[in-house]
Parts: sequence; C-alpha cells; structure tokens
Amino acid sequence: MNNKKFINNKLICPVCQTPLELDESAKSFICKKENKPHCFDISSAGYVNLALGHAGGGDSKECVKSRSEFLGCGHYKPISDKLNDLALKYIEKDSSVLDAGCGEGYYTLSLAKELSSEGCENSMVVGIDLSKYAVEQAAKTAKRSEVENLIYAVSSIYELPMPDMSLGGVVSLFAPCPAKEFHRVLKTDGILIVASAGEKHLMGLKKALYDNVYTNETRADTPNEELFSLLDTHSVSYKIELTSNKEITDLFAMTPYFYRTSLSDKQKLEKMEHLITEVEVDFSVYRKNG
Ligand SMILES: C[S@@+](CC[C@H](N)C(=O)[O-])C[C@H]1O[C@@H](n2cnc3c(N)ncnc32)[C@H](O)[C@@H]1O
Ligand SMILES: [Zn+2]
Repeated sequence: MNNKKFINNKLICPVCQTPLELDESAKSFICKKENKPHCFDISSAGYVNLALGHAGGGDSKECVKSRSEFLGCGHYKPISDKLNDLALKYIEKDSSVLDAGCGEGYYTLSLAKELSSEGCENSMVVGIDLSKYAVEQAAKTAKRSEVENLIYAVSSIYELPMPDMSLGGVVSLFAPCPAKEFHRVLKTDGILIVASAGEKHLMGLKKALYDNVYTNETRADTPNEELFSLLDTHSVSYKIELTSNKEITDLFAMTPYFYRTSLSDKQKLEKMEHLITEVEVDFSVYRKNG
C-alpha cells in the first residue's frame, strides 16, 4: 500500500460503514466516525483484515500453497491475459476494480499492472478474499512487485467493505458470485466479468482420476437478468502439459475434485509424472442494470 491518493475512501468500516482513510503513520485504516473511530491495522505483509465475524473462512493454507505454486508456473497465463483484455475493453478507464475472491492474487496483480501500464493511472484494484492465508500471500507478492494501484483486504464478498456505487468493475474468477452485492457496489453501467470452468475444463485430469467422466455443468449462480445484462462471452481453450508429479498434485489440490474424490481414486495420481489436460474457461461480461 504505497500510494495514499488511491486508497482513501475506497473501503468502508465493517462496523459502522463509514469510509476508511489511512492514518498519519499509514499503518492503519481508521473510519471517520465521530468520537470513537474504529481502527484496522495494516499487516506487515500489507493487507487489512476487515472480516470481523467471518474470519477463518475461505481456502486453507495447503490449498493456497498448491494454487500459488501451480499458477506461478504460468499454465493459466492465457486466462489472465484474456481477463486483462476484457477489463481494458469494457471497464471505464480510471475507475476502481474489485477482484472478488481473489485468492493469492495471481490475476489481481496482473490486472493492476496491466491497467497502470495502459494509462489508467487512477485505476485502483482491490483484491478481497475470506482466506487470510490467500490474502497474505497476495499482499506479499504485490509488495515485492512494488505496484501502487493495488490493495488487499480479508473480508467476505457477500458483505463487501465498500461503498455503494463506487466501482467501475468487478471481476470474479472461479469464486462465488453474489450478484446482488456486486450490483450494490458497482456504479451505474458498471461491468461484471465472471470466469468459470468450461465444459471440458481439466478433462484430462478427470480421466486420470475417474472411470466415468462427465463434462462440467454450466454454473448455477449466473447473475439474475434483472440485475445484469449479458454483453459478451468468450471461451479460452487450450491444452497444458504437466511434467512432474508436483505440478499434477498442485493442480489437483486447487480443484473442487480434491474434496470430492475417494482415497482410492486419489492414489491414481501418486506416481503420475506426466499429464496432458484441456483448459477451458468461459468468460461472461455483464453490465449492471438500473
Ligand atoms: C477457487 S478459488 C479462486 C481464487 C482466485 N480467484 C483464482 O482464480 O486464483 C475461490 C476463492 O474464493 C474464496 N472465497 C470463498 N468464499 C468466499 C467468501 N464468502 N468471501 C470471500 N472469498 C471467498 C476462497 O477463499 C478462494 O480463495
Ligand atoms: Zn467505524
């Protein structure tokens, strides 16, 4: 959190909902509530915890570690590139953008860099996730990159610590999609970009695990037509080749299959050193109605 001008009033106090500002030492956020302001310290990694009663949820330390290591290999860079293209094309220049359920910030950091390098000097990117482990990892990586237009907070995305109608865009990648809350924080005509697993996403991995393999179903939590209008769709589809057991097990550990697979099926990956699998991600771009 380096640049003060970007940060003030982007977040609100989770207790009294008044806007948060950095204090003079820039080590805490305080709300403007008269008499007894609430104070939230910025961690040494550089994030703020605004989760209150929800603290402790979201992805586990192990899951965060696996996803971080897998994403760090660059296999999902085409997904990040597509997100950046769509954000630049559709989201109002110089507005703030939320990455809701940002995980360890792989897409968030790339988006923040892209926006600042494309002349959106006043665009602020806010990454929010309920997992303290994920946000800590994200903040550490951002600190090393010295990006100025990015902040991270621990919070539930179902009760965002953000003012009404304050954002030009929300991006949601493989995370829950509370459309009503996104609608609240988006400005008039604000943009919501949702990325989710396509039909054949990770088919090769599923074939390695299961005897009977089905294509993925389309997700059930697509935004209600009253709240959002669909503007555009894109599919990113390619194959990746994994050449070590670590890459294969890291990929497996970041998928929902990790929690649904029997021990005997899980054991099929134990000695696997080579896997080719499809990656298929569907992007939907929506505009806020009303
Ligand atoms: C599959 S991960 C995707 C992370 C990141 N968007 C990515 O694609 O790398 C889903 C993320 O949603 C977060 N999450 C789940 N429920 C949440 C909630 N209620 N509020 C905030 N984050 C949540 C998890 O902690 C996890 O980091
Ligand atoms: Zn307050």
